[in-house]
Amino acid sequence: MGIGSGKGKAILFGEHFVVYGFPALAAGISSETVAKVMRRRSSGWVLLDNRPAMPGYKEQKSDEQNVSIENILRYCNIDVSRTGFKVELGGNLVCASGIGASAASSVAIARALNDEYSLGLNDKQINEAAYEGERGYHGTPSGIDNTASTYGGLVWFTRDLKGGPPKFEALKLKRPVHMVIASTGLTASTKEVVGDVKRKKDEDPDWFKELSSEYDELVHEGRDALIQLDLAKVGNLMNRNHELLQEMTVSCRELDSLVEIARKSGASGAKMTGTGRGGNMIALASDEKTMKKIAAALERAKAAGVWTTTFGL
Ligand code: MEV
Repeated sequence: MGIGSGKGKAILFGEHFVVYGFPALAAGISSETVAKVMRRRSSGWVLLDNRPAMPGYKEQKSDEQNVSIENILRYCNIDVSRTGFKVELGGNLVCASGIGASAASSVAIARALNDEYSLGLNDKQINEAAYEGERGYHGTPSGIDNTASTYGGLVWFTRDLKGGPPKFEALKLKRPVHMVIASTGLTASTKEVVGDVKRKKDEDPDWFKELSSEYDELVHEGRDALIQLDLAKVGNLMNRNHELLQEMTVSCRELDSLVEIARKSGASGAKMTGTGRGGNMIALASDEKTMKKIAAALERAKAAGVWTTTFGL
């Protein structure tokens, strides 16, 4: 049996902008997806998906997940025409839009195949295999999700628009920072949302240019503020990043409402994270006590899921 895991992630700054070559900052979270691969005598592969998930998530993503697994197999050069395998997914990452569940599953599967078939892939190649897996979910992934999932930690990521390898840098903070993640319970199609943003950008390039030039300044300020642990400033910049995403039309009423609750209960800042139009929001907390207060307020408001975590080390 081969085994492998991939971490969930939260994008602190830059979802959607990252697709167009702007830098983004993502934090790997401690929850992860675990894959186990067992060979079998018959051809082809079968999937047993035991991951905890928001209702409807797995059903909605199932066709894309099949394409994703085929893409990973192609990258790994594994031929299942005579004998194949069973892959079992589990772990403690609750699958929802925005948490990097598709990337975590791609990384976990690539690692489990690497283990079972003794492929000798290093992390760079696992990340490439998982990128191919991510392409099953939407045609033009920036690569930030699979990179954060492969390496964990805090990742400063820039896509190469010419198709070359992305640039990424691992950032370390002097102490871990507290964060709350809350789910709307709604599953979005990354393909559709990314496609809508592209249409809007193509229709009005000046609008997108203005939006992204403000974002570009914001993300650099955000990186510096985070390194200095100036959480009040990071929070303000997250709030502004959320407004830019609202203008991009990728937020939604449910996300805005969770963001509002988090801010009112003491968050330094809050924003949607990931694809949007459902999925998750993140809130930054100055300390553990505030984090618990924010989480309790979101629970009282009946968010579909609430998790607390730290990032930065
Ligand atoms: C999804 O987690 C992040 C997006 O920016 C898409 C991508 O980067 O591929 C929306």
